[in-house]
Amino acid sequence: MKLIEWTMEEQEQLIEFITTNIWPYHVNSHPARDIVEKTIDEGGYESDEAKTFWLVDDADVQVGMVKIYDLQDDIPLFDLRIAEKWRGLGYGTKALKLISEYVFSLPNNKIRLEGHTRQDNIAMRKTFENAGFVKEAHLRQAWYVPKEDAYYDAVTYGITRQDYLEGKTTPVSWDDEVKIDHFDYKENWDFPSSFESERLIIRMPFMEDVDAVWEAIVHSAKNLKPFMHWAQTLPKKEETKENLRQAIGDFIARKDLRLHVFLKDSGEFIGSSGLHNIDWTIPKFEIGYWLDARYEGKGYMTEAVQRISQFAFEELSAKRLEIRCDSDNIRSRAVASRARFELEGILKQDRRSADGKTFRDTCIYAKIK
Ligand SMILES: CC(C)(COP(=O)(O)OP(=O)(O)OC[C@H]1O[C@@H](n2cnc3c(N)ncnc32)[C@H](O)[C@@H]1OP(=O)(O)O)[C@@H](O)C(=O)NCCC(=O)NCCS
Repeated sequence: MKLIEWTMEEQEQLIEFITTNIWPYHVNSHPARDIVEKTIDEGGYESDEAKTFWLVDDADVQVGMVKIYDLQDDIPLFDLRIAEKWRGLGYGTKALKLISEYVFSLPNNKIRLEGHTRQDNIAMRKTFENAGFVKEAHLRQAWYVPKEDAYYDAVTYGITRQDYLEGKTTPVSWDDEVKIDHFDYKENWDFPSSFESERLIIRMPFMEDVDAVWEAIVHSAKNLKPFMHWAQTLPKKEETKENLRQAIGDFIARKDLRLHVFLKDSGEFIGSSGLHNIDWTIPKFEIGYWLDARYEGKGYMTEAVQRISQFAFEELSAKRLEIRCDSDNIRSRAVASRARFELEGILKQDRRSADGKTFRDTCIYAKIK
């Protein structure tokens, strides 16, 4: 069997072929002459987008036709029709193999070929399978037949370039839902560990930061104490070092992403932020922060939070970011508002104060994408 390109001079033959056969599984099972003419006039059978071929058997008998369309796309489609008297004789299968050969030999390396049919079109479905196509979709009640005012199920079959070239048929992995449950985003995601904003460098922590971090804590003790549990007593440098080691390990393991903030101009450490309480299945993160008291009042932390939010949305595909802070922590709340986080609610008596003596309310600010 071979494909012979149809030309406009053969209009009459095409009209005759389509109008003298019944196409039980096409939306229009018996198209009238004027419809076919109109489609021809509009370039529906011959254009940059579409090519039509006669299917000619070894004895030069015209047994059918195929229109291959969406030819400018990476994924062309086709409409295969065997004349009634030649159906069920193996022509459909041979034709589909030739169609695949044609499509995958096109110069622009088509990535896949696909076709849709009605679920009860058994001949077409078997034809797909015989030609190495795989059933990829089953759409319930997606095929409307106006004449019957009824909806049928539709099925989609596809063949990839790779399978075609390698002569194999790779089944669709239908149990991917299980894999999604266990998909470990944090291990599979590679993302930068350093980025910049206008005035700041924001990066993962390193052991060499220990002196700067410890000094910043010492200088900021008064500010940190009311709101940070860990700042109730001044940590020894050895403790800060141990904490840093833990944070680096967690960053590498994608368990918690602490981010240190430095001034771009001088390289000085000015504070710590990060993405905590991570839920990679959303993904969602909580942004935490504290600023060295010596650098307050310049909008640095707002700038850092804005840039870290951008990083989370763009690099980590975050869907939700939260900032949680004590309702009395006016400065922290101001950072959240200035970074355009929305106050979603206040949880009453949600935790004990940092010194453990009273109950405090927690503000939940969030930004979503
Ligand atoms: C669908 C069509 C292209 C298939 O071509 P064909 O030449 O008839 O198919 P083949 O002879 O290659 O047969 C393919 C398989 O379908 C089976 N088959 C053919 N006609 C069948 C029928 N009426 N009922 C059940 N199975 C049938 C064949 O036995 C064969 O299966 P096998 O390989 O297990 O033996 C052709 O029948 C046709 O043009 N039908 C009308 C137009 C149409 O529906 N096109 C698809 C629109 S999306």
